[in-house]
Amino acid sequence: TDRRKLAAGNWKMNGLGAELSEIEALIASHGAASSELLICPPATLIERMARVAEGSALQIGGQDCHAAASGAHTGDTSAAMLRDAGASHVILGHSERRAGHRESDAAVRAKTEAALAEGLVAVVCVGETLEEREAGRTLEVIASQLDGSVPDAATAETVVIAYEPVWAIGTGKVATTTEITEVHDDIRARLVARFGDEVGNGMRVLYGGSVKPGNAAEIFAVENVDGALVGGASLKAADFGGIIAAL
Ligand code: G3H
Repeated sequence: TDRRKLAAGNWKMNGLGAELSEIEALIASHGAASSELLICPPATLIERMARVAEGSALQIGGQDCHAAASGAHTGDTSAAMLRDAGASHVILGHSERRAGHRESDAAVRAKTEAALAEGLVAVVCVGETLEEREAGRTLEVIASQLDGSVPDAATAETVVIAYEPVWAIGTGKVATTTEITEVHDDIRARLVARFGDEVGNGMRVLYGGSVKPGNAAEIFAVENVDGALVGGASLKAADFGGIIAAL
């Protein structure tokens, strides 16, 4: 199947207005790329970044949204608000939110449903901890996260899965291609079993965890890897550009 490759950057809690110059530089060098490009800045930068990216191939996303459309939820952002600010995508269930904000699979699923209802593409993250991997539970943990977090209404156009081994995030410790192959093949098989051939084979599955310009080509060569969710290396146009070039 010819799934379109996606390079997604997650700026996490990084980025002030001054860093928009990195986006200008990125667009200057890769704004006409044929692959899909996405940057998810902090909520405070979405609107300004969307304005900078207008007319280019770069799409803008949020890093989380609330499951409710509006209401008494101090500090939260709804899917409609992200869209209103210029976002087309939203990352949901990142391990930093699962761990730091105790987000359950059910919560991630409810947020994903809210995102889809607003027409946002949801990038749903799954991944095992080091402890789970060492206990031989990797595939089981990911299967239950997928079952619990991805709504039945998911389609190849509206949901992207990101596999991020927690132990590889921000550690410089990238999973081996053997490890990535095993997990991505298993995710693919589960998506096909649950959603059928067309949706299951059409849905993109990204790898995330210490992806850099120097290791991206090797990771992208893995059959069921359809791109990357990049943290640290998405902050600089030169680094992210190197990853895009490897797609
Ligand atoms: O969402 C991105 C990931 O958590 C990966 O972060 O590339 O800094 O390891 P990293």
